[in-house]
Amino acid sequence: MRIGVLTSGGDCPGLNAVIRSVVHRAVVDHGDEVIGFRDGWKGLLECDYLKLDLDAVAGILARGGTILGSSRVQPSHLRDGVERAKGHVEELGLDAIIPIGGEGTLKAARLMSDNGLPVVGVPKTIDNDIAVTDVTFGFDTAVGVATEALDRLKTTAESHQRVLVVEVMGRHTGWIALHSGMAAGAHAIVVPERPFDIEELAARVGDRFEAGKRFAIVVAAEGAKPQPGSMEFDEGGKDIYGHERFAGIARQLSVELEARLGKEARPVILGHVQRGGTPTAYDRVLATRFGWHAVEAVHRGEFGKMTALRGTDIVMVPLAEAVETLKTVPEERYAEAECVL
Ligand code: F6P
Repeated sequence: MRIGVLTSGGDCPGLNAVIRSVVHRAVVDHGDEVIGFRDGWKGLLECDYLKLDLDAVAGILARGGTILGSSRVQPSHLRDGVERAKGHVEELGLDAIIPIGGEGTLKAARLMSDNGLPVVGVPKTIDNDIAVTDVTFGFDTAVGVATEALDRLKTTAESHQRVLVVEVMGRHTGWIALHSGMAAGAHAIVVPERPFDIEELAARVGDRFEAGKRFAIVVAAEGAKPQPGSMEFDEGGKDIYGHERFAGIARQLSVELEARLGKEARPVILGHVQRGGTPTAYDRVLATRFGWHAVEAVHRGEFGKMTALRGTDIVMVPLAEAVETLKTVPEERYAEAECVL
């Protein structure tokens, strides 16, 4: 068989582990040929690719990023490009395409699949917001990076009696905020799923200082929002891909907390450091399993589906289901964390 692989959307630790796994299973075990499209769907639309053999994937298991490169493509551009993509798949004699990506990529995968292309998807994202899989690779690494940063920030916050408001990624869900905040023992966590009350947050931090503590760490998911009308809030608008452009909740919260408490409050934005670097062992294993199972699905002709983790098993789920809803943090998780507002 001849299989094309691509990585699209925001990168994520573990992408290279999937690519390596696909090549190992397909080339070594099945005698297939694998090619990789450069920079995501763009590579398929422009027929820009490289051969992926064992040498090409040597030493990439522990490497962050993606050796194939990634990009975002506007949905309208993809819709217009479906026929071109089909032409390239035919020209290259491909039996299957394995796109590895998050919500946007899986939507594009569904579009391609609905138009007759043989697609098997692999979900990835540090945000952990894909509903049909228990977890995505990249999340464990991102939580680890954020937790280490929070541990470090606690010590400097204490030295200077500061409030540090630490902004973590996650788009419209609070998974990274919740897990890193719990792991590091944050004093307050705000998440997009539950708009916060700024007065309650200020009171929580204020009570801590009143009780004699000399610092506080607030973890803010980048998509967290105040209850409407409770404080001035810059929404940020949308980018050209239709994604919400977050306007810096940590900065806005620091201003509000400093004004209310008279304590120095500083924003810390962890940003892309959460996405870079070597994946954890957990993410490498999950990514490797996803790659292996994607190749098996290709050989079974199980197209229009994606790999997913359910309990300890890898299962195949229709792409149509995969992109229906976002996996948000369920209400019952807030109480366990103690400090979610
Ligand atoms: O979806 C992964 C993610 O890292 C989000 O957490 C974040 O909002 C977004 O991508 C950032 O995207 P970009 O790298 O395009 O700024």
